[in-house]
Amino acid sequence: MTQAMDWQGGVGRAWAEEWQRTDRTFAQLTPALLATIAAMPGHRVLDIGCGAGELALSLAAARPKGAVCGIDLSADLIAAAQQRGAGRANARFAIADASRWQDPAFTPDLLVSRHGVMFFADPPAAFAHLATVAAPGARLVFSCFRAPAENAWASAMAGLAPPPAQPADPHAPNPFSPGPFAFADPDHVRAMLAGWTDLVFTPHDFDYLAGEGPDAAEQALALFRRIGPAASALRQAAEADRAGIEQRLREVIAAHTRDGKVSFVAAAWIVTATKA
Ligand SMILES: C[S@@+](CC[C@H](N)C(=O)[O-])C[C@H]1O[C@@H](n2cnc3c(N)ncnc32)[C@H](O)[C@@H]1O
Repeated sequence: MTQAMDWQGGVGRAWAEEWQRTDRTFAQLTPALLATIAAMPGHRVLDIGCGAGELALSLAAARPKGAVCGIDLSADLIAAAQQRGAGRANARFAIADASRWQDPAFTPDLLVSRHGVMFFADPPAAFAHLATVAAPGARLVFSCFRAPAENAWASAMAGLAPPPAQPADPHAPNPFSPGPFAFADPDHVRAMLAGWTDLVFTPHDFDYLAGEGPDAAEQALALFRRIGPAASALRQAAEADRAGIEQRLREVIAAHTRDGKVSFVAAAWIVTATKA
């Protein structure tokens, strides 16, 4: 579970410091997402959970007569996006919670997100709000992960931490809690997209590239120490367990290294919808 305060704090800071590496993990997803967006009309684009701004800046370049606004909870990520986007006159970035954001001077007709919509505390309320602030007939395009079992970058990390000393909680964790896999189930997403219609789910499989080149394994290690399930296992581990987790992480990385690249199977949905 990744909550707003995680993104506003250390998780957002880690993503801001690691944006070159996180962009690389999405490098085989982004062109497919941009191709889907390219087929959509729209001159005022809102990038929801824009992070360090790669999608927003690509769209600002692709639509020079349009205007792009990227919003994110994390001040660190917005600062990174602003720095990257300096000189791109038709892109701007703001710290905001998408479930409350509004700007009377900017009515978006195209709403996009690369993996930024799965963390809403109350998704139906957030999507209903976004429909309220969007222009009539506005289009929505976002990507999100499919199930953990289809995403080796996450499932391969499952055994890193030693089993908990306490007996397992008899209540299974809610698979729809805010987090990377909250939007894995299309039926659940359909029920949450209040205010939006004509939903289409297109699967897209890609290589999640964690490192490449002569120091590929060290790059992957640096990424996973800061981002994703290994990073949270390391954060939550007792001091005495950290070296063992790192050792197992190195083994996972070695098992996924081929031809100078560390890569993991990743599975996403690209979802399109229209304001109802
Ligand atoms: C997995 S990251 C993706 C970031 C970026 N879209 C990218 O592709 O690199 C999820 C992003 O969504 C942002 N986010 C989560 N909940 C949000 C909310 N309610 N409003 C705005 N941004 C949010 C986080 O701060 C984080 O930057």
